[in-house]
Amino acid sequence: MKKYNVAVVGATGAVGEEIFRIFEEIDFPFNKIVPLASERSAGNTITFNNGDLVIKELTETIFHEEEIEIALFSAGGSISEKYASFAVDAGAVVIDNTSHFRMDEDVPLVVPEVNPEEINEWKTTGIIANPNCSTIQMVQALKPLDDAFDLVRVDVATYQATSGGGKEAMEELVTQMQDFFAFKLDDSEHKAFPHQIALNVIPQIDVFMENGYTKEEMKMVNETIKILGKNVEVCATCVRVPTLRGHAESLTLTFDADVDANEAREILAKAPNIIVIDNPAASEYPMPAACVDKNETFVGRIRNDIYRKNVLNMFIVADNLRVGAATNAVRIAQKWVEIQEATK
Ligand code: A2P
Repeated sequence: MKKYNVAVVGATGAVGEEIFRIFEEIDFPFNKIVPLASERSAGNTITFNNGDLVIKELTETIFHEEEIEIALFSAGGSISEKYASFAVDAGAVVIDNTSHFRMDEDVPLVVPEVNPEEINEWKTTGIIANPNCSTIQMVQALKPLDDAFDLVRVDVATYQATSGGGKEAMEELVTQMQDFFAFKLDDSEHKAFPHQIALNVIPQIDVFMENGYTKEEMKMVNETIKILGKNVEVCATCVRVPTLRGHAESLTLTFDADVDANEAREILAKAPNIIVIDNPAASEYPMPAACVDKNETFVGRIRNDIYRKNVLNMFIVADNLRVGAATNAVRIAQKWVEIQEATK
């Protein structure tokens, strides 16, 4: 089997670090893996498979110089906008974790458990987009239920961890909690979020759009339709909560057909990379603290609506840095390699 030259752009970031940890855990056919970041980090090392890798500066020519074949981008939308084309011109497939290319109709938006066949479309632009963290875990749970009961509408409220805003956002929560215990919370700074996040809940992620929804909420709407390939109605309320890792979502799903909670539970239990934790009598259900470092999406509190037979409620949780970002990107890379090998 051919071995590939891989680059991770944003190697020092919250998602980039997770990509390296996943590559350590799986058997990926790489010849070399090159960490790329800003000039601030260039020359520093990261530990990988018990050795050290030297971080290189992201430049326009680095992909060509390093003969990169797979480039995973997680350094923010503006970096992808500027540098993805240099990776593509050097002959690499770009797997982009930012929102920059997601709604481009020539760029496949992929969750391998849902629409793996879309990866075949990568050649049009050389880019495959990784969806928003909240969308990935949600569509993983929606797909098997849509296949069984024909999904019509999703009402979702999210409880999103600070790591969705990167490392500095996580540090902001920790610093504010320290300031709280030092009786200095009133003087504590906030840069990553529009308000203090410690001991608070903020019903705003990203900027507000003209229609009154935030950009994050509209990502969930538009990306879900693109990935499922159908005009399902989606109403999202995205909320930042003072956790470090793990996004939770409360879902109310309306189907065309009547749906039985027990049947839905069985279907979800068999779905790829879904784990059902649903034993209310023992207070067992998905929670952020229990999903950290896991590569699966956890589903529980599966229950029929009190009023309508075609409506189901559930609570889902996944590690946003893994399932919502790094794991999905690496799974896309694995599928892409499979396709290359099969079409040789
Ligand atoms: P660096 O650590 O050198 O600044 P996070 O999402 O956790 O905030 O991380 C952002 C990632 O994007 C980091 O790896 C960061 O590298 C990287 N990054 C930010 N700006 C640039 C840039 N101009 N060029 C290359 N990488 C960048």
